[in-house]
Amino acid sequence: MAQLFLGIESSCDDTAAAVVSSKREILSSVVMDQSALHEAFGGVVPEIAARAHTEKLDIAIETALEDADISLSQIDAIAVTAGPGLIGGVLAGVMCARGISTGTGKPLIGVNHLAGHALTPRLTDDIAFPYLLLLVSGGHCQLLIVRGPDEYHRLGGTIDDAPGEAFDKTARALGLGQPGGPAVEKAAHSGDPERFRFPRPLLDRPGCDLSFSGLKTALIRERDSLIAAQNGLTEQDRADLCAGFQAAVADVLSKKTARAIEQYLKDGPRQPVIAVSGGVAANMAIRGGLETISNAAGLGFVAPPLALCTDNAAMIAWAGIELDQIGHKGLDPLIARPRWPLDVQQPTMLGSGKKGAKA
Ligand code: KG4
Ligand code: ZN
Repeated sequence: MAQLFLGIESSCDDTAAAVVSSKREILSSVVMDQSALHEAFGGVVPEIAARAHTEKLDIAIETALEDADISLSQIDAIAVTAGPGLIGGVLAGVMCARGISTGTGKPLIGVNHLAGHALTPRLTDDIAFPYLLLLVSGGHCQLLIVRGPDEYHRLGGTIDDAPGEAFDKTARALGLGQPGGPAVEKAAHSGDPERFRFPRPLLDRPGCDLSFSGLKTALIRERDSLIAAQNGLTEQDRADLCAGFQAAVADVLSKKTARAIEQYLKDGPRQPVIAVSGGVAANMAIRGGLETISNAAGLGFVAPPLALCTDNAAMIAWAGIELDQIGHKGLDPLIARPRWPLDVQQPTMLGSGKKGAKA
């Protein structure tokens, strides 16, 4: 019989709850976004986020149960994001989940937020292990071979900013709204990607590591010279800067993914697939570039629907289901972990300008 999992997510600025069945049905997925609370500060304020989570978690969970038309007693287990993320938010989710588990006697499983993103293509498209995954979000950027629900091999990652972070900083530098990714993508529609030739960082080096902070600095330099020369920016300047920046990110991500394919194929996958996940996977130019290289290499390409690319709790419920199916208990003991790499065999990535390990 299908198992029903309640998923809870609160690691950044979205308070989310969802009900998912082991038959890959998303019965409900509620995401309460906090962007209005953080707008005036130009980025997520951890303390404000944590307080908002404590206020909204119970509402998100009640709504998810109502939308799924079930009661708490019909749930088989609870899966909660136990990290990595902003510690106050993760703690709010873990404590709420603990309370529900203690009160109802339902089992509780602590899930890695990145595993949630990484396993989403299995929820949406039922792809087989192993697959090559490009995980691109506001805090993370990794190329991984996903071999099982708890088995990841990292081929490369960012040595500084994550691409979503670079999109957010670019939007801020150009006076566009937050989150920056959708704002930059929208502006880029009417821009000329050739007007500014931005660098393609780390393409001259072997391997699959990436870097985005230099790209953002190059954009700020172009912006400043335009402002110095003409006393401001026109709408067209903004659009062209966004288009050039987005083209550079898409190009670097495609080329590094192409390199990762070679290593992935050594695993001998029977149904080779490239999947993309995380908030930045919502970007159509980036998806397009990845699809082109997948087709050229004769691999399948999977990009989950946009609502399942950005943070949500359906992916957390699903990761809980996958772990449960292999008899894995999740994070044990269940604590809130600000850092939690998916591939524990690889050294922590710390590069110039990087403020701590981004797993
Ligand atoms: O996965 P996510 O919802 O949260 C985590 O970081 O875990 O990703 C959010 C990030 C933000 O930086 C946002 O600007 C970026 O994803 N993003 C995009 C787009 N939509 C969201 N970046 C580029 N293009 C988009 N359309
Ligand atoms: Zn995320």
